[in-house]
Amino acid sequence: MKKDFLKYQAQTGPAPLSIEVSHAKGTYVYDVSHKKYLDFVAGVSANTLGHSHPKIVEAVQKQAASYMHVMVYGEYIQKPAVEFSKLLAKSLPGPLETTYLVNSGTEAIEGAMKLAKRATGRSGLIAAKHAYHGNTQGSMSLMGFEPRKQAYRPLLPGISFIEYNNENDLYNITEDTAGVLLETIQGGAGFIEPKNGYLKKVKARCEEVGALLILDEIQPGFGRTGKLFGFMNYQVVPDILVMGKGMAGGMPVGAFTASHDMMALLKESPKMGHITTFGGHPVIAAAALATLQELTSSNLIPQTLEKEKLFRSLLVHPLIKGIRGKGLMLAIILEDPEIVNFLVLEGMKKGLLLFWLLFEPKAVRITPPLTISNEEIEEGCTAILELLEEWNSQNVN
Ligand SMILES: Cc1ncc(COP(=O)(O)O)c(C=O)c1O
Repeated sequence: MKKDFLKYQAQTGPAPLSIEVSHAKGTYVYDVSHKKYLDFVAGVSANTLGHSHPKIVEAVQKQAASYMHVMVYGEYIQKPAVEFSKLLAKSLPGPLETTYLVNSGTEAIEGAMKLAKRATGRSGLIAAKHAYHGNTQGSMSLMGFEPRKQAYRPLLPGISFIEYNNENDLYNITEDTAGVLLETIQGGAGFIEPKNGYLKKVKARCEEVGALLILDEIQPGFGRTGKLFGFMNYQVVPDILVMGKGMAGGMPVGAFTASHDMMALLKESPKMGHITTFGGHPVIAAAALATLQELTSSNLIPQTLEKEKLFRSLLVHPLIKGIRGKGLMLAIILEDPEIVNFLVLEGMKKGLLLFWLLFEPKAVRITPPLTISNEEIEEGCTAILELLEEWNSQNVN
């Protein structure tokens, strides 16, 4: 199977981890040789409720048996998409009320970029250095890391970059700016939190010049940081909210939300301002609804902060230089990328799934399902500490 995987399924990574998955349940992934892996990655922050959560499975099965795709986005009334959008609106502060459902995070970013242009009549967009917003050519234009996009130029014009958390850069936001697009907590950059009211200051500057604040919550969203969305920790409300990943508990999805009036701009001049065949797909929407219902009716979200404390208390070792992030969006910072590679690759052999961050080679991602138990956290952290001791014993001078 591995040979076929490498030959017939396109690869863009140099050395895929190549676990041949048999099944996955809760916080564990199982391979075809019955090996069990404790999952500290959750499909890169997507499996909010763990693998094959019974409520998501039930919602998906029931919906698939009832109807799947019947029409392109927005023409027919399909209950799962309507109910999800309504529950989301009830869980968000005003004016965030109306949601456009799409197929992936990057498509949601594309939609948000287009909406900002329509709402302001301007074309300039500002993003942050080391930002990651997706891999289609619009969202790639916002990527704040030149080596990954150079080969695809020309990309979108009119995009400039500011340094995240640097207030002095805010003067770059001007009357030409349609929108400032930021990750609430920078992901690929190394799980960098906004400091000293940074997001509030960005929003204030946006208001001064009539630009929109667009927050990319594709990674922190859906409960990972102690609130339903990361921005709720920082006393700021974006004009456009972008989401994806954990939204449907492991099904492919994305969405952007704005006020009803702003979203209505996509209806005219020209009409059909964003079109998608599968966006709002009833099976995916049913999974998103089940995920959101579970998150809003349980203690899983506040528990992420208790679980963060447990991680921080256990992950103490001379090789660990720091832990960044919030809730269950954490990154262990090591002094050498070689230790990161060792933890990810040897961790996998030991039955612990860890992963890299895109632009920070000294960081190891810890983004388990929100449903992870304290015992599982202890089990995984013990394995990490053992691996660090192994590294030490293999690297004594
Ligand atoms: C912050 C952020 N924005 C956008 C994206 C793109 O989402 P997708 O991979 O679903 O297109 C990602 C994916 O990693 C992300 O982490």
